[in-house]
Amino acid sequence: MVIVRSCLPLANYYFIAIFTGILQEFTLQPANNSVFIIYRLAGKGDVMDAKFQAWLDDLRSNVSLEEVVSEYVPLKQKGRRFWGCCPFHNEKTASFSVDSEAQLYYCFGCHKGGTVINFVMEMERLEFMDAVRLLADRAHMEVPVRSRTDPQDGVSRDERERMYEANRLAARYFHSLLWTSEGAEALNYLYGRGLNDKDIRRFGLGASPRGWDGLCKHLQEQGFEPEILEKAGLVVRREKGVFDMFRGRAMFPIINPQGRVLGFGGRAMGDEQPKYLNTAETPIFNKRRNLYALNYASKERAVGHLVLVEGYMDTVSLRKYGVQGVVATLGTALTEEQAKLMKRYAPEIWISYDGDPPGQKAALRALDILDGQELAARVIDYPGNMDPDDFVKANGLAGFEALPRYDSTSYRLLRAKDGLNLDTQDGMTQYVLKACAILKRVKSPVELENHLRRLVNETGYDREILVRQIGVSAPAPTEEPRRPRRPMTPVLDGEILAEQALIAMLARGLIPADLVKPSDFSDEVRSTLAEKLISGENVSYWVESLPDGDQRSKALEALNYRPLPDKQEDALRMAEDCLNTIHHNRAESRKDEISRQINSASRDEKIAMYQQIMALNEDKND
Ligand code: UTP
Ligand code: MN
Repeated sequence: MVIVRSCLPLANYYFIAIFTGILQEFTLQPANNSVFIIYRLAGKGDVMDAKFQAWLDDLRSNVSLEEVVSEYVPLKQKGRRFWGCCPFHNEKTASFSVDSEAQLYYCFGCHKGGTVINFVMEMERLEFMDAVRLLADRAHMEVPVRSRTDPQDGVSRDERERMYEANRLAARYFHSLLWTSEGAEALNYLYGRGLNDKDIRRFGLGASPRGWDGLCKHLQEQGFEPEILEKAGLVVRREKGVFDMFRGRAMFPIINPQGRVLGFGGRAMGDEQPKYLNTAETPIFNKRRNLYALNYASKERAVGHLVLVEGYMDTVSLRKYGVQGVVATLGTALTEEQAKLMKRYAPEIWISYDGDPPGQKAALRALDILDGQELAARVIDYPGNMDPDDFVKANGLAGFEALPRYDSTSYRLLRAKDGLNLDTQDGMTQYVLKACAILKRVKSPVELENHLRRLVNETGYDREILVRQIGVSAPAPTEEPRRPRRPMTPVLDGEILAEQALIAMLARGLIPADLVKPSDFSDEVRSTLAEKLISGENVSYWVESLPDGDQRSKALEALNYRPLPDKQEDALRMAEDCLNTIHHNRAESRKDEISRQINSASRDEKIAMYQQIMALNEDKND
């Protein structure tokens, strides 16, 4: 994988951010496990990866971006660009453009952009590999089998389809059983939980038979081999043969937004353990990367938020009472992958966990995960140890809507008081210390100010004291700050435009590659972009692998800089101007910086500094 090697010398952070999208797909490892990724690249994975990359290239050349985009947005051609109204933000005049040569789209209004794979990911809300599969279907190409360690591996497209089909039929079978004597107990159980037939139909709930192989037999009659049923997690193989995985349980099918049944959760009807049995990891189901009821939530994007609960019953119950956007984790604590998944569906998450202490602890952990993904969050605090199911049954939709929804800082402050007696000096001191540590994490000055005022009121401490405590209670930053190439020197707008123009001209081949150096660029994205353009790499694929957001926008903004000269000689003159602007600004900033430091410098240092300034004055070009 050429792209990756050339990136290795870069800061780890950057390297990982770029490749997260592609790599996590076939390593299934936490994205920050850089050692693992590097090992994979250097080791056996390489052959497979190179093969897969080559196949991806084929796929990309077999689908045309403008054709795919036209299916969503009417486009008009002007030269090498096609224009239309942006599908990602509301607009009346066309600022969305498709560059047919570079095979990149970019919206001049909202700055979203990328390749055809990014486009499908964004429009269909799919993960990278799922978008690839969709495009492969379209191009009548078979997705190659990937590395050995991945459970998604060793499974052909046909086999995956068989598993989906087996799951779909299993869900139907469980559902139909409810109204037979075999499912009577489960039906009564669900009635006992307050659900009626309409709710049961809506969520496709079911009953798994008490016997050993009811489902297994049923699906074998439909032509399914036990092997595929085992792979789909529907049956288990023991010495004596194959048996149903789910026996005598009330069944909740887990369905993805594309309408595929991925797996099941089965609730024991008595005290059997485990209370909920979930489908194990299979090639089509990973509980850390999916959410229950996302199939409904994906159609409720107008709601503007998701309500995140801990359980199947909470989801069904809240939805029964009319709460929209409810989804649940699948028997694990919230994962980073799930946070990323939710971010594709809503800009804000309302954490709605059980009101008991374990639920509260889990809510704090979930807040940290959501913070990590820069996803806004609120927390609903249920009174008296209730869970969402109990609460909504007792208080209805109106009761749910009247519950306080704490912003993340307020919720952390609320929890900081747990177990402390604020009427004692000791309790109050402990609270203030915890509160200041929490406020230290607030990034927005306005928000910080609001919380600070409240804390002054609440505790009676002087504002000044609290501010100082917030300063000292700062936990050492856990992440090493990203080091820009040229620290300390401000980058002026003109300089950014100059850098963008240079990139765009390089990309169009209007100026020779050796005219610029990566170090001419003031930030990592543009500098890496320049490095790749200079070495003649295909930057579209690199842009594709940048995480959606600032970095990809920055790259695309540069590549799409306009207007550009037509003639090469005009381009050369423009490039000259751009480089002068960059070097001039850089020298000025450097001088400013030295002048600022000069007062506090020793005598010898001062002399050296004056010499530096003089040198900068003489030769602004270096
Ligand atoms: P809870 O134990 O809070 O169950 O587990 P609940 O949602 O209140 O269920 P009811 O009301 O007793 O039926 C919350 C979630 O944790 C997962 C399930 O996803 C469950 O919905 N869980 C729990 C399991 O996966 N396995 C278990 O054994 C228990
Ligand atoms: Mn419950």
